[in-house]
Amino acid sequence: MKNIKYDLKNKYCLITGAAGLLGEEHAHSLLEINANVILTDINIKKLNFIKKKLIKKYPTSKILITRMDVSKESSIKKVVKKIKKKKVKLYCLINNAAIDAKVKKNQKMLNSSSFEKVLLQDWEKHLSVGLTGAMLCSKYFGRMIVSNKSGGVIINVASDLSVIAPNHRIYSKGVFKPVMYSVVKHGIIGLTKYLATYWNNKRLRCNAISPGPIQSNQPKKFIKKLKFQIPLNRLASKNEYRGAIQFLCSDASNYMTGQNLIIDGGRSVW
Ligand SMILES: NC(=O)c1ccc[n+]([C@@H]2O[C@H](COP(=O)([O-])OP(=O)(O)OC[C@H]3O[C@@H](n4cnc5c(N)ncnc54)[C@H](O)[C@@H]3O)[C@@H](O)[C@H]2O)c1
Repeated sequence: MKNIKYDLKNKYCLITGAAGLLGEEHAHSLLEINANVILTDINIKKLNFIKKKLIKKYPTSKILITRMDVSKESSIKKVVKKIKKKKVKLYCLINNAAIDAKVKKNQKMLNSSSFEKVLLQDWEKHLSVGLTGAMLCSKYFGRMIVSNKSGGVIINVASDLSVIAPNHRIYSKGVFKPVMYSVVKHGIIGLTKYLATYWNNKRLRCNAISPGPIQSNQPKKFIKKLKFQIPLNRLASKNEYRGAIQFLCSDASNYMTGQNLIIDGGRSVW
């Protein structure tokens, strides 16, 4: 039996940072429940590759791709123009793009110097993508969503580090989770609450999702230390957030706004 509460047939959803590890997963989440998607990223080559895979799997949905740099207002405006030209009625925005430093084989991470050595240019880069980017996309695409009588949703992708501090003891000596990540992720929760109350009368709901760490190619030693901090004793698989995205994007979560859905294997309760 079809569950109409979860059905997004004919609805367009735009994802930022869609060429990344989770971005592609968000596309699957939406396409599985019949949505049309607009995938955006600065990496157009990867988007092309992902589009080819998705078309094969979801032949009845519309899958559009476009280059968009969320840190540049001019780039966002271009995409707004493009989708208006196509007469697309936007229903949903997923603010997913961020600079998310991954732990590499040598256990190092991008911008992982000690706090005392943080460079202003790195701070500004992280904030411009993860926080300013989400604000700008919400400004332009949120406006499009509220112009629809039926409204829509914004989902901000935060992290378990939106509610807890990083435990630097899991990294190797001299490596620290960048302070920018904590600030961006705590900030995005503020943006979520602000938008939920700002557009409360416009049928736009805004919620955040806070994923815990996802298993990719992290070194075994690092995974072992990280698992120890997670009550479920493992990292997430990248597809374990699909259900939550479907819930937050659809009528199944109609009475929910301004909240942060934390899915972290219990990490933040310890
Ligand atoms: N991977 C995890 O373990 C994890 C855990 C919790 C939260 N998250 C959050 O999930 C989201 C996605 O993470 P991910 O693991 O897929 O990261 P990722 O690095 O794999 O993907 C991020 C994507 O953002 C794009 N991007 C970078 N700068 C951009 C810009 N200026 N404009 C547009 N796109 C830009 C990149 O090209 C990349 O495709 C992030 O917000 C991240 O913080 C990830």
